[in-house]
Amino acid sequence: MTTPSHPGYPDHPGRADGAIPQGQVDPMGPASATDGSLGSGGPGDLAMQEAARRHLWLHFTRMSSYADADMPVIVRGSGQYVYDQKGKRYLDGLSGLFVSQIGHGRREVAEAGARQAAELAYFPLWSYAHPRAVELAERLATLAPGDLNRVFFTTSGSEAVESAWKLAKQYFKTTGEHGRYKVLSRDIAYHGTSMGALAITGLPGIKHPFEPLPAGGVRVPNTNFYRAPGFVADDLGAFGLWAADEIERAILREGPESVAAVFLEPVQNSGGCFPPPPGYFARVREICDRYGVLLVSDEVICAFGRLGYYFGSQRYGYQPDIITFAKGLTSGYAPLGGMLVSDRLMEPFSDGPATFLHGVTFAGHPVSCAVALANLDVFEKEDLLGNVRANEAAFRATLEKLNDLPIVGDVRGDGYFYGIELVKDKASRLTFDEDESERLLRGFLSQALFDAGLVCRADDRGDPVIQLAPPLTCGPEHFAEMEQILRSVLTEAWTRL
Ligand SMILES: Cc1ncc(COP(=O)(O)O)c(C=O)c1O
Repeated sequence: MTTPSHPGYPDHPGRADGAIPQGQVDPMGPASATDGSLGSGGPGDLAMQEAARRHLWLHFTRMSSYADADMPVIVRGSGQYVYDQKGKRYLDGLSGLFVSQIGHGRREVAEAGARQAAELAYFPLWSYAHPRAVELAERLATLAPGDLNRVFFTTSGSEAVESAWKLAKQYFKTTGEHGRYKVLSRDIAYHGTSMGALAITGLPGIKHPFEPLPAGGVRVPNTNFYRAPGFVADDLGAFGLWAADEIERAILREGPESVAAVFLEPVQNSGGCFPPPPGYFARVREICDRYGVLLVSDEVICAFGRLGYYFGSQRYGYQPDIITFAKGLTSGYAPLGGMLVSDRLMEPFSDGPATFLHGVTFAGHPVSCAVALANLDVFEKEDLLGNVRANEAAFRATLEKLNDLPIVGDVRGDGYFYGIELVKDKASRLTFDEDESERLLRGFLSQALFDAGLVCRADDRGDPVIQLAPPLTCGPEHFAEMEQILRSVLTEAWTRL
């Protein structure tokens, strides 16, 4: 498999002809800047491209792709769609980056942020509280599973993961188990990019340039049943128990007294949406209890409705010791992340001088907390969890229609979170070699899907997959639109192999 220079992120070198496909013109027209500034759709277009090329550094992106091509510039969003500077419309099949649960352009959420900025734009959570952080912490404690009732805010998912590892380490040091520092996580799982989170991340390609990383990251198998080892390839239940038992074997190999935590996503994102087999998490919970290891449910993607529940662990019926979250909590109207823990983990820090020695300036930002509260109001008012649960079978069925294409090997996921694995040979499940993967994903698919009006993700951090995670407001008409675009682009891709 390739070691991508921009893992999993599409190069979108823009549409060379700038054409606006029929039926996809924004009825409101492009958001023009009439003053010739770096606006969109007007005389500022060229200047914007030039300034972007000169000064902007995109994340996980081959910047050379844009040396002679325009960067895609998204200027506004409305509902399930976003619009570029020429007014062309795109179905947001990835909720930006697994973020925009309620969809784009929600005035009431934007206004909640503006009101908060006017009232108290900023105050730190270092030694002080502010009302929105208190209200949000209380609300999250009510929504969270079991005894998770204490919220430590961050600004991002990486910081949430970093915080959870630091808490686990300091917790064990404080409670006398000084040797516990290691973390187990799954092959090719993504848990963030800061140094600690990167040590937990299981993608060799994005780790190597930054080694040495903090010590203690240990890999265990993921739950990709499509690529299960032969001895459990025909039995999902047996596969799940094998994968869970591999966690026990790793704990024993490393020495239980050295292991602090296991970090798992409810549905693993990287590699293309691996749901947990039945019985997997129940077995993992037993193993963690047996060896005194903390179970961290990394729900940066899977919380806030992505799987039809406020938390992914609720869907699969397991009780984590820590939940990390970010993204969908605010639907992206402002950045916010955090972790939820129980009184048990808080207890060593409740007496005397004991202090969790960790914090970041913008964690629990008042504007972000106000936005999160307004976002959760929308969840309730519009019963978005109900919408996902009512429509997820239709989403699956629509995507499974693509199974008739020779290039589609596997369609997998849960809720509104799906991966479509692409193969060179369906019968043998043969994947693409490096060159084909490069040509197919980078050279054609990412660009073609975007040109066809669909924001999604062509990812080859594991075997090549297309990922979909649309806003939770989507319904059958959006699923059909995704299927049609995917069908036509994947059909074309097959002819180019
Ligand atoms: C499971 C998981 N953990 C952590 C992160 C890192 O979050 P952020 O990009 O907000 O730092 C991500 C990001 O996609 C993620 O999917």
